[in-house]
Amino acid sequence: MFYKKNILITGGAGFIGSHVVRIFVNKYPEYRIINLDKLTYAGNLANLKDIENAPNYVFVKADICDFEDMLRIFNEYQIDNVIHLAAESHVDRSIKDPFSFAKTNVMGTLNLLEAARQSWLTPHLAPRTSHLFYHISTDEVYGELDFDDTLFTEDTAYDPHSPYSASKAASDHFVRAYHDTYGLPTVISNCSNNYGSYQFPEKLIPLFINNIRHNKTLPVYGKGENVRDWLYVEDHARAIDLIFHEGKTGDTYNIGGFNEWKNIDLIKVMIKTVDRLLGREEGESEKLITYVTDRAGHDLRYAIDSTKLKNELGWEPSLQFEEGIEKTVRWYLENQDWLDNVTSGDYQKYYEKMYG
Ligand code: NAD
Ligand code: TYD
Repeated sequence: MFYKKNILITGGAGFIGSHVVRIFVNKYPEYRIINLDKLTYAGNLANLKDIENAPNYVFVKADICDFEDMLRIFNEYQIDNVIHLAAESHVDRSIKDPFSFAKTNVMGTLNLLEAARQSWLTPHLAPRTSHLFYHISTDEVYGELDFDDTLFTEDTAYDPHSPYSASKAASDHFVRAYHDTYGLPTVISNCSNNYGSYQFPEKLIPLFINNIRHNKTLPVYGKGENVRDWLYVEDHARAIDLIFHEGKTGDTYNIGGFNEWKNIDLIKVMIKTVDRLLGREEGESEKLITYVTDRAGHDLRYAIDSTKLKNELGWEPSLQFEEGIEKTVRWYLENQDWLDNVTSGDYQKYYEKMYG
């Protein structure tokens, strides 16, 4: 079978990656999707059960930190496009173990860039205009905002504070360097906090939904006043599809929901929704809120200006937050098996260590 493109999606067994893989496999039967994932604690093939037998889908278990293996995979699957999501992604883990973040997020990205350069820019090969290295990044590289009405734009200077955001910032710089130095066709997007199905329950929203259900305490960092800008994960995946096809090479796009929430207000919405869906008295679970020591270097506020993406490519978030959070809470309540499966074993030890 001849495929129009051979697209390597890294981190496709993770939260956002699995939504991106699903869209591409279903929407583009003319593309072959090669999902490369190491299957760390955050990667789970159960996230892709519905498409695992699709004829245009291949799963490859591999580590982006292994350069020789990346070269082999580029060669074996004739990779001509990359959508790179594989990363260590949790800020709290980065505070405990910064080295693994530098290794995967910086060195792993560099390995992929170099494999792409060696495969695509070799002089004896005819130049192809259809190559693209699309790097998925975060708004956290821009640092933090005050409690005012400023927003991160594509021109905001990088100012990362956590080992996670520092490692993502470094990887973004390498992507730009490969574009400017070697002419590698690249594009970057920086997105705000995502929520939705298949997110590993160490992140705020799935962790708290699960804890509310099981009457476990809700560890709110500091005073719960930090602000995040939340985007439904399927809207992010749609933006990635659009930027992949229509984004300008060498450019950067911000993706966000224009949907800012103070943590404590968001937590109260989750409590209300879970209590209602479980037939409990309204607000009954507010007693589970427990204020704990703040996260070190905790960024005050993130908020993204995605006007450029709207004006240039016509993207807008499709879901109102109220609808998105309702769908998300329902999904976690209806998929307890998935949660039990991913929270068994090693995760249990991590949870004990983090929260006692
Ligand atoms: P995730 O932690 O759920 O998934 C990461 C995936 O990468 C997992 O499947 C994991 O197995 C895989 N992986 C990790 N190390 C690997 C390695 N060395 N080799 C191969 N695979 C490896 O993360 P996510 O939340 O889905 O985030 C995906 C990407 O989007 C990341 O690059 C992240 O920085 C970025 N991002 C995330 C958010 C968010 O809110 N979650 C927001 C903006 C940007
Ligand atoms: P998180 O989901 O880890 O995303 P990020 O730190 O990348 O924004 O956290 C979202 C917000 O919720 C952040 O301000 C930290 C806060 N938080 C808590 O208060 N308690 C928790 O147990 C967690 C995991 C997060």
